[in-house]
Parts: sequence; C-alpha cells; structure tokens
Amino acid sequence: MILSIESSCDDSAIAVTEIATNRLVFHKKISQEIEHSVYGGVVPELAARLHAEALPKILEQCEPYFRELKAVAVTASPGLAVTLIEGVTLAKAVSIALDIPLIAVNHLIGHIYSLFIEKETLFPLTVLLVSGGHTQVMEVKSLSEITTVAKSMDDSFGESFDKVAKMMGLGYPGGPAIEKLAKEGDRKRYNFTVPLLRTPQLAFSYSGLKNAVRLAVEKSEPQDYKDIAASFEHIASKHLIHKLKKYFQTNPPENFAIVGGASANLYLRGEIQELLKPYGAKLLLSELQYCSDNAAMIGRVAVDMYKKNMFTSMEEIQVVPRMKM
Ligand code: KG4
Ligand code: ZN
Repeated sequence: MILSIESSCDDSAIAVTEIATNRLVFHKKISQEIEHSVYGGVVPELAARLHAEALPKILEQCEPYFRELKAVAVTASPGLAVTLIEGVTLAKAVSIALDIPLIAVNHLIGHIYSLFIEKETLFPLTVLLVSGGHTQVMEVKSLSEITTVAKSMDDSFGESFDKVAKMMGLGYPGGPAIEKLAKEGDRKRYNFTVPLLRTPQLAFSYSGLKNAVRLAVEKSEPQDYKDIAASFEHIASKHLIHKLKKYFQTNPPENFAIVGGASANLYLRGEIQELLKPYGAKLLLSELQYCSDNAAMIGRVAVDMYKKNMFTSMEEIQVVPRMKM
C-alpha cells in the first residue's frame, strides 16, 4: 500500500491506495473553505497553519495501515510554497519513521489521474485541466509523456469564478456559488466578449472577461447578479469551447477528459459533450468528489510511479511552487 499526502492549496488530504489493485482503502480530506471564505480567497499562511493541525490528525487514523506501507507519496509541485512544505515535511517524517521510500508527485498529473482512481489508465488522452491555478490543454501519452498545447496567459478559469463570486459577496470558493446562481439566470442578457476570439493563438485569457464582469456588477443591483453569473459562465465556457474547436481542426481527439476543481461545473460538462459529438470521441470525467484537490488522485499517480521505481531521496525532494508543464 502507498500513503499519499496532498497540501498544495487549502485542502489537507491523506489517502491509502493498494498497489496491486488500485483500490482506495482510506481517504480523508479536511477543507479550509470556511476559514478562507471571509477573505474571498486562500490566505497562504493561514492555510499552512491549518494543514499543520489537520494533517497529523488524519495521519493518526491511518495507523492500522502503517505496517503494510511500501512508500509515502506527497504533492511536491506546483502549489503554494508554504502549504506544500507542510505535506513534504510530514512525508519525510513518515519515510524516516517507517523506513519506506518517498515519491514526489506533480499535482497536475494528480488531477489527470483523478480519472483513474480505482481504475486502469487510458491513453492517449487529450486533457483540459480547469482548476483554481491552471487552465491548460495537454496531450497525455503516458505518465511521463505529457505535452501542454495551450494554457492561460493570465487568470485561470476557476480563479475567474472565485473573483466574480468575490465581487458579488458570495465567499470562497466561487465556482459552486456562481454555478448555482447561474442556473436561475439569463445567459444571453449580458453580452460579454469572448476572449481572444479573433487571435489565432491557442491560449486562454480570463482577466479581460473578469474586468467586464466587474463593470457590470458595479452598474447593477443584486437582483441582476443571477443574469451576470449566467452570462459570465456562458462566455467563460464558450472561450474554452472556441479554442478547443480550433485545436481539434488539426488534432481531432480520440479520448478527451476534463479534470480539476472546475470540471465539476455541469454547464461546462454539457458544452464539452456537445463539442465532442461530431468527433465520436470518448469523454472521461472524474467522479464529482475527486474533481477538487484530494489525496486519492495523488495516491493513484504514486502507484504507477512506484511500479516504475520513480522514487526521490530525502535530500533531493524539493518543493517547487511554480513548475513549467
Ligand atoms: O482543483 P482545485 O480544487 O484546486 C486547484 O488545484 O486550484 O480547483 C479549485 C477551483 C476553484 O477556483 C473553484 O472555484 C473552482 O475550482 N470550482 C469551480 C466549480 N467547483 C470548483 N468552478 C466552476 N464551477 C464549479 N462548479
Ligand atoms: Zn488542484
């Protein structure tokens, strides 16, 4: 079995995964949403302090599995430096105490592997990652052959939801709150411009849309917020669809997946489903509970890394907050 730790942002999570079967035998996550909500976003130092309290509590519950552990895996990049360190420090302590090797997992690969929790992998795969930190399209041939073909030049898809929610006083995280409000709204009432519509570039940008929404919020009354939320969600998704369509002209997908916290958005899921129809491509989605940050996905990557002897020594393991991929 492998013990895996996730602390890259505001979720403290630990999982135990069986190596031979990919079975998830333990998973517990303590989220800090309430604590950060008053600030309208994650406060790194507060997050780190909360991880320092939560992670040892969860680890205690894993004691029955200690004797069967063959490795300890931890998210080492990318994420918030001060929170990643909490997880890595704990992983080092477990590695020393139980005399088992360390596996350093990339969080973005973790999101891709959220598709394969308790399952076999499926490649090749075109992946749209939409989270709080990232908006990118990747071609995934295997665990170690991942190419990014498009990414955001500024804000991420999830982050734009968080910022719009903050403007409307809806707290953090904004994604679920905006999605809920948008369901009652008129998607056509506000005619926001689709970002980068006339540029041939395969890239994403959300800062302009965010500012257009800010102006609309400032000029309107709270009863208009549902229409603003609906129009924003519509255009934010349309931007993704437009660029994906462009990419598919030369690279039609065989298997396509949406991962990351914002892949829980049902409106986006529906739009992507429509987009894929002409290609007959298979759509892979993570279970809703594994879209946002969790340790089960880190454990699933770790199983494949373990089988390939991809260990990291105690001296080599490094926290890398920003990582090119
Ligand atoms: O993957 P994740 O848990 O953390 C990162 O790795 O960043 O993603 C969190 C992000 C937040 O920005 C949150 O607002 C967004 O995912 N999110 C959503 C939805 N649920 C979560 N965005 C849009 N619609 C949702 N339903
Ligand atoms: Zn994430």
